[in-house]
Amino acid sequence: MVGQQQAPSPAVEEIGAQPTRWTRRHVLDIDDFSVEEIELVMSQADAMSEVLSRDVPRVPALRGVTVVNLFYENSTRTRTSFELAAKALGADVVNIADSASSVTKGESLVDTVRTVQALGADIVVMRHAQSGAPYLAMRHSEVSFLNAGDGWHAHPSQALLDLYTLRQRIGSVRGRKVVICGDVAHSRVARSNIWGLATMGAQVVLSGPPTLIPREFSGPQEGLLPPVRVDHDFNSAIEGADVVMMLRLQAERQQSGLLPSLREYALLYQLDEERLARAASGAVVMHPGPMNEGVEISPAVAHGARSLVESQVTNGVAVRMALLYLVGNRRREARS
Ligand code: CP
Repeated sequence: MVGQQQAPSPAVEEIGAQPTRWTRRHVLDIDDFSVEEIELVMSQADAMSEVLSRDVPRVPALRGVTVVNLFYENSTRTRTSFELAAKALGADVVNIADSASSVTKGESLVDTVRTVQALGADIVVMRHAQSGAPYLAMRHSEVSFLNAGDGWHAHPSQALLDLYTLRQRIGSVRGRKVVICGDVAHSRVARSNIWGLATMGAQVVLSGPPTLIPREFSGPQEGLLPPVRVDHDFNSAIEGADVVMMLRLQAERQQSGLLPSLREYALLYQLDEERLARAASGAVVMHPGPMNEGVEISPAVAHGARSLVESQVTNGVAVRMALLYLVGNRRREARS
């Protein structure tokens, strides 16, 4: 039960965070997070940012905990920030890439997870190309899983770091217009951000070509999906927006017939300075990365004064420290 007070552990006192009960063994999605849980992650991330600002940015909060980064897909931001986060909390960290593991010899996901558990893993941070992979792994193991991106499904730590970055820059997102533009259909970042932003009260507008926006968002959502509006015309969608979140366009969308040409896509959907001028004054720009500059976003906007892209990357460490700490501390409490 989030919000319930308990006696602070020494680790909590050292970090300076508010002791609050966290019940999740895993973080696989954000679709069932309550406002209170999201706020708890935000306040823990504040405490972690304070740790990171110290001369020696480390606390022994997860000393004795082993974190395994198990990445079946490439990553720069997520893998590095989870590693830095775990080290800043004093955890032992092991990185496993599928290309350098026995996966190349045919070992299954379940056997790999059982193997890292037998070797002493407490928390596994997993990225996998198949949607639902961490749910399968969870059923065959006692370790805690943090989903670092599964297929097109979810990327919860990205959505939480995006919410944290917005909270830092514009305050509450309640009532703010957030436009998410691009390949929503194939984006786990979009899916998790839609849930997180809607839970926190933002007005979410999806924009992009009809082939890249799932049809279910256009119909009656009847409580199954978060409330969003779809506007395929980016020029009108962006009018008065407080936040413009651009998504990476993958070139294979053109090869698979979902787009006539990248040139036409850029003409209609690239965020450049002229389009950004239609947004609210003071609107901010986000992109989870990696960016295709010159396709979905112009270099001037990507690196301009309104861009939060670097802050998103930086905040990834504090937010992932918060998640590792909350999950690791819950395991410790469950054992005692
Ligand atoms: N945003 C994101 O998930 O980036 P990486 O693929 O580099 O981790």
